Amino acid sequence: LRFDASNRTLLEAGLMRAAEASACDVRELLARLESKDSDALLQLVVRHVTIGETYFFRHPEHFAALRERALPALTANRQPGDKLRAWSAGCANGEEAWSLAMVLAEAWPLGNVEVLGTDINRAALDRARAGRYSRWSLRSENPMVSRWLDQRDEQISVAERLRPQVRFNYLNLRDAIYPSLFTGTNQLDVIFCRNVLVYFLPAAAAEVLRRFRDCLSDGGWLVVSALDALDIPDGLERHTHGATLLLRKPAAPTIRVAPRTSQAAPPSRAPVRSDVLLRAKHAADKHDLDAAIALVEDALAGERSTTALHLYALVLGEHGRAAEQARVLQEIIERNPEDVLAHLYLGLASTPGAARTRELQYVGELCNKHRDEELLPGADPLPVAWVRKMAKAAQ
Ligand SMILES: C[S@@+](CC[C@H](N)C(=O)[O-])C[C@H]1O[C@@H](n2cnc3c(N)ncnc32)[C@H](O)[C@@H]1O
Repeated sequence: LRFDASNRTLLEAGLMRAAEASACDVRELLARLESKDSDALLQLVVRHVTIGETYFFRHPEHFAALRERALPALTANRQPGDKLRAWSAGCANGEEAWSLAMVLAEAWPLGNVEVLGTDINRAALDRARAGRYSRWSLRSENPMVSRWLDQRDEQISVAERLRPQVRFNYLNLRDAIYPSLFTGTNQLDVIFCRNVLVYFLPAAAAEVLRRFRDCLSDGGWLVVSALDALDIPDGLERHTHGATLLLRKPAAPTIRVAPRTSQAAPPSRAPVRSDVLLRAKHAADKHDLDAAIALVEDALAGERSTTALHLYALVLGEHGRAAEQARVLQEIIERNPEDVLAHLYLGLASTPGAARTRELQYVGELCNKHRDEELLPGADPLPVAWVRKMAKAAQ
């Protein structure tokens, strides 16, 4: 995070409040932060030195551009059975993610809308999941609010029918874990990241924007606030809707296939297994879980490769088929007892208790056999440093 003359007082006051909350002075707080790998203490400091300001339909021009420009382009060539997926990165208390879900749900069948909200502030994520707000969150007027929020006296809550379409997870934008299947950040149609990167050092903000580009599907849209959009990476087009800037990953060119004459037609061939696995990965990236499971089972019928098993385990877990997922992970571990990601997923999927703690501690031990920057193989390779941190936090 960037602290300079403009926000130095935020840092000072925040550190003082965090020190007070942990019954020590600022010097001691900093020493503790440096000496201990304490997620709880870091969380406390994050809460006090970041700004979580947000409300429904904040910057209404972005939502208008999404509805009037981005969504018509995104939905033009899709079937209603296809998913439409968006990410609110740095979602604070969640109003931005819920607002995105409302706009998408008014343009597309509700059951095929998926919105992910992420932040580093776990307390804010809890509020986002609860989906209950005060009138102060409705500072910006929008007619959708009356259709998707239940308002009783001073209490406002998100309509039940919208809730299954939105999920909230911890994700630090400084960790190299996106795009990835594991974090649900592949092949996204829309990313909103507003009033977040302005607090980052320029090089860090540029790295985040490059990662966002790689998370987008072809033709997907990125919306950042004006202050965040200083250094736009290659591979993103600038579009304007009125005075609003939108960034877009170019749409894939439409390939026109000339009709084949009978002589020119090649002999028909069964699809190669690796093609099937690629298609399974693509379906999983799109969160089309039924299709992904069917395709990966097809690939496995040919060859039970570890890569295919990893993908199978991930999609089974996403589908809520925990017992089958555990069996597949065991199969991977039987082949390679030191498969770090298989142990990680097994640990994360198990209920809190001694066995889970042991499994996740073992993940930490296995990580120590690798270099921090190494990528661990799986359906989606993940960096060692992050896996170690994740395993520790989840114990
Ligand atoms: C001012 S709020 C913006 C909320 C919302 N995007 C909006 O524009 O209304 C900034 C949010 O960014 C989050 N944030 C700061 N650094 C982050 C990081 N490294 N990774 C993820 N979120 C971060 C903060 O916790 C805070 O909730």
